[in-house]
Amino acid sequence: MQILKKYKTRFEEYLQNNPFTGTPSELYEPVQYIMHLGGKRLRPAMAMMGYELFKEDIEKALPVAMAVEVFHNFSLVHDDIMDEALVRRGKPTVHKQYGDNAAILSGDVMLVLASQMITNLGDTDLIPPLIRIFNRAAIEVCEGQQMDMNFEQREDVTIPEYITMIGLKTAALLAASLEMGAVTAGADQADVQCVYDFGFQIGIAFQLQDDILDTFGDPEVFGKKIGGDIVQNKKTFLILKALEVADSKQRQRLEELMNTPTEDEKEKIEEVTNLLKSLDIPAFAEAEKNKYKKLAFDSLNKVNGSNSGKAVLKELAELIVGRDI
Ligand code: IPE
Ligand code: IPE
Ligand code: MG
Ligand code: MG
Ligand code: MG
Repeated sequence: MQILKKYKTRFEEYLQNNPFTGTPSELYEPVQYIMHLGGKRLRPAMAMMGYELFKEDIEKALPVAMAVEVFHNFSLVHDDIMDEALVRRGKPTVHKQYGDNAAILSGDVMLVLASQMITNLGDTDLIPPLIRIFNRAAIEVCEGQQMDMNFEQREDVTIPEYITMIGLKTAALLAASLEMGAVTAGADQADVQCVYDFGFQIGIAFQLQDDILDTFGDPEVFGKKIGGDIVQNKKTFLILKALEVADSKQRQRLEELMNTPTEDEKEKIEEVTNLLKSLDIPAFAEAEKNKYKKLAFDSLNKVNGSNSGKAVLKELAELIVGRDI
């Protein structure tokens, strides 16, 4: 996390100076709660890093950094309702703390606040291109989230479909964060595209790692319930790969477990986890992550940005694939 520290500190200073207050307080308190719950601040860091590839005065990227983090936190508030998650960043989720209605409406206002942060930018020439990138990513996140939920009910999801889904729900926003930083710095179109590609490919690796940690992580460090994806019958890479390499008896059992509502959570998590381990699925997932890391590095090498900026992004990529939080 060392590489993120400088960006995180800078961002959190800005956050302290721009609190989410307003009336009714029941609307804004959950916003303030989730925004100050911690988190890696990866997307704002990426907005600043995208900027820094082309220009040095990174405080110019702070409003955009805030917009992507507010959008991300909005998506988490609604995601936790959809995934029935009770713990986020080691604390109660917004809907657990304040109720579903508050979580829905506070999430809604966050989406609009994020957009407003872009339309309020002082450099008005930047507003149309940035809002186009933001809107596209926001729509993609919704599309990916719907696919993720559709997959819970389906038995025939393929790995390519899963990769498409995580590209939309997760990688699109990581890529857009970098892209918005680069556009704010005035980068040319070819560079912006390579920066986006890097962000997208490393974003796929990022979600693969999230799915690995959801089953194999340390709950104290990861800050989320371990086994949540198994309980929700999520068709993650781990499950899809297991279905591919299992023998027919194992496949039948896994299909049975993943296609029926969960009865005994603990038992189900344990049985699925053991099956995944016995099939060596963590090693397959590592290889898949590394495939996308390599693609990301190829895209980064094409960027005509500062060497120091590119070195930072390489370190970030290593952190993303190796993280335990
Ligand atoms: C969680 O994102 C949602 C996913 C896309 C997997 P992060 O892992 O970046 O969450 P925080 O912001 O650091 O808590
Ligand atoms: C969420 O994916 C992606 C979003 C757009 C929020 P997950 O559902 O896996 O994220 P976590 O694990 O709850 O953070
Ligand atoms: Mg989800
Ligand atoms: Mg979730
Ligand atoms: Mg997850």
